[in-house]
Amino acid sequence: MGDFIGLLGLGVYLPERVMTNDEWAEYVDTSDDWIVARTGIHTRRIAADEESTADLALAAAQAALADGAFEPADIDEIVLATDTPEVFAPDTAAYVQARLGVGHIPCYDLAGSGCAGFVLALDVARSRALADGRRVLVIGVELITRLMNWKDRNTCVLFGDAAGAAVVGSGAGAIEILAATAGTDGAKSDILGLEAGGTRLPITMERVRHGLHKNLVMDGREVFREAVRRMSEASLQVLAKAGVSMDDVALVVPHQANLRILNAVAARLGLSEERVFINVQEYGNTGSASVPVALWEARDQGRIKPGDLVLLTAFGAGFHWAAMLLRF
Ligand code: UT7
Repeated sequence: MGDFIGLLGLGVYLPERVMTNDEWAEYVDTSDDWIVARTGIHTRRIAADEESTADLALAAAQAALADGAFEPADIDEIVLATDTPEVFAPDTAAYVQARLGVGHIPCYDLAGSGCAGFVLALDVARSRALADGRRVLVIGVELITRLMNWKDRNTCVLFGDAAGAAVVGSGAGAIEILAATAGTDGAKSDILGLEAGGTRLPITMERVRHGLHKNLVMDGREVFREAVRRMSEASLQVLAKAGVSMDDVALVVPHQANLRILNAVAARLGLSEERVFINVQEYGNTGSASVPVALWEARDQGRIKPGDLVLLTAFGAGFHWAAMLLRF
């Protein structure tokens, strides 16, 4: 096998604390039955008080380097996708860069890219690798449970904390990136997001008093509909770009938001259960970390064989969507 641009190492970090649906029922008026029936989620991970976004990101990054047998000095650039950064500015990538010991390489966040952030970041990394021969560390990380409102049952039960990372570059035996596609509908930017803290709605005492500094805005039904449509369409688009059909794909690894969304995408694409990887039951929606964690687990569980085509598809706030076709 010759050299091509691909994923050269994968890593994840999952915080230790597991939170059940019954525990959520102690905070808000909800139940295990409701959460399981409407979302398929049973548990999620919650970062420890002493952990912050950069801690999660760093652990996943180190795991990805180890997986690819790389040293920090082998990395030329870092791109990190998150909606829940270490601080407002500078970006989380700068904190990770310093702690990883990679030297003064350029690094930046794809901030606010929603749950599609990691797949978008992989595509950015691929173009950096192609243009400049760089080896790029891509990280998707979310510590959303600290920035969401623990009293809003419409949103709080859906999410969990996690991080995933990949090293992207050229190398024989890599997981080859065959094609990628992405899109944005900025007219839908107010339908899903973390609105407080920007210049439009600065955090004031008044907003804090009403708990609005942690307001996760979400029209669940609209997000649901668009997620199904965009993840399905992006999947077909990336297959067309690569000149292959869905029958050629061994496994689809979608963004894990809700089991019902995943089932609807599978139905639209005519996929049987075993061709869609699902772990939302265990981790909930982990935003930018969801796709790399799912891809890592799919590989870890032996769901992917050498030569298999694997399709990533993701959707999130923005609305942004992205899909990528890989060959293992
Ligand atoms: O990556 C993007 C992040 N966001 C998402 O992926 C969200 C996508 N949307 C969804 O997953 C679903 O729309 C939800 C799971 C959020 C909601 O499911 P749904 O079937 O669309 O429910 P619904 O919005 O129609 O709400 C049904 C009822 C409402 O009560 P009423 O108004 O019918 O009396 C809600 O107040 O369920 C109520 N409800 C809850 N009840 C118990 C909402 N959250 C809860 C809860 N426990 N946690």
